[in-house]
Amino acid sequence: MWRPTGLGPVGRTALMAAAIAALAATSAFAFDNMSPEQRAALEAKAIDVAATDGETAAAEGGERTIFDGVYTAEQADRGMGFFGTDCATCHSNTARGSSAAPGLIGYTLDNKYADESLFTYFDYMRSNMPPGNAGWFTDQEYADIVAYLLELHGAPAGDTELEGTEEALSTITIVPTP
Ligand code: HEC
Repeated sequence: MWRPTGLGPVGRTALMAAAIAALAATSAFAFDNMSPEQRAALEAKAIDVAATDGETAAAEGGERTIFDGVYTAEQADRGMGFFGTDCATCHSNTARGSSAAPGLIGYTLDNKYADESLFTYFDYMRSNMPPGNAGWFTDQEYADIVAYLLELHGAPAGDTELEGTEEALSTITIVPTP
């Protein structure tokens, strides 16, 4: 199959959407008259098309993305405290960056970290931030900071806390804002 290797994540997503739309269009006239089995087969085929886009980890295993409510509002509040005392001086209160440090949300998540696992983002933070004091927080506290940053980014909260473990964080994929 021809693969759009040169395209960025946004391009790939658009292409995938187009592929699914095309698949739906060719079968649309018949879709309404189909048996449940036929519909299921067609839908499975659409999912197959999505899964063929191997670079998108979320499509591969039906895993979660950062927009699936992967943290709680309470947790984000805790993270806000840590962020305010130890990160905001450089990254600004909005986490959109300053002359001293890059933005951590918006473009950074939508583009730079797109298609990476949330663990990659977390692990960079834990291993490098704050500069000269990496590992200052516990893993769970770093996860709380990630929760707060996801909130600032516009990703919704959910019912379960984000766990500060590689096992949990690597199942969550950063995808561009829908
Ligand atoms: C003294 C200023 C300073 C403080 C305090 C600080 N950072 Fe940073 N941070 C930076 C700089 C500078 C970079 C860019 C480093 C680079 O590109 O090599 C950065 C990069 C990052 C990145 C990677 C951004 C990217 O584009 O990949 C993350 C995530 C991050 N910081 C999170 C944090 C968190 C969370 C805290 C608080 C625990 C924190 N930082 C505290 C200066 C700071």
